[in-house]
Amino acid sequence: MRKQIAAANWKMNCTYQQGEKLLDDILKAKPALGADQLVLFAVPFPYLIMAKSEVADEKNVQIAAQNCYHKKAGAYTGEVSAEMLDSIGIDYCIVGHSERREYFNESNQDLAEKINLLLSFDMVPVFCCGEALAVREAGQQNEWVAKQLEESLFHLSDDQIKKVVIAYEPIWAIGTGKTASAAQAQEMHAFIRSVLAKKFGQPTADQISILYGGSVKASNAAEIFAGADVDGGLVGGASLIPEEFVAIIKALK
Ligand code: PGA
Repeated sequence: MRKQIAAANWKMNCTYQQGEKLLDDILKAKPALGADQLVLFAVPFPYLIMAKSEVADEKNVQIAAQNCYHKKAGAYTGEVSAEMLDSIGIDYCIVGHSERREYFNESNQDLAEKINLLLSFDMVPVFCCGEALAVREAGQQNEWVAKQLEESLFHLSDDQIKKVVIAYEPIWAIGTGKTASAAQAQEMHAFIRSVLAKKFGQPTADQISILYGGSVKASNAAEIFAGADVDGGLVGGASLIPEEFVAIIKALK
């Protein structure tokens, strides 16, 4: 089975002490994970090492960075490279979250470079895609998402694309309390898989985990995750509340 993933995206929330307690509370309450299940915590840079040591004895729990820079190294004050993350033992990194695309002008081409760098260090990129409300209202969501996939992922080899995790996050559903319906999520996930299948072949596309993101919570996770092409979720707000995130973990297939 494809990996089923519950990924927490803390964004710019929590002090160090709050983050430590949040992790503790979730780890204490979470169920044992199956071989095909994975829990990810994407925490702010200053907490990566703490979080890594908190989960050191856990099975199928990993720590992710929320971003990295699209250049290898050099005079880029304030940025963090894929190599730096690799050097502290981080294996996962979110790439192209819609907030980074919007507030930091990250282009599909920048994201392709980030993905190349992460893969060169054998790290797993969690690549985010998704359309804004205006695009959905114009019925252009498929074209929009296909272009994001093409421009950031289509240069990869078969072996490389298999390492990538994709997160479909309709921007109109992020932090708004407005979730895509389970049917809308499944429809887009199936479309994403078909785009990947056309380029990389069905057997390869079938191995790629596609997560849904956008107001996932305890009350809707099981219904959304039930979609045949939905392999878990990337969770913002609800990942900061232990009972919510534990329930979301329990909803994984
Ligand atoms: P949300 O955020 O769960 O708060 O909507 C999801 C995300 O942005 O990854």
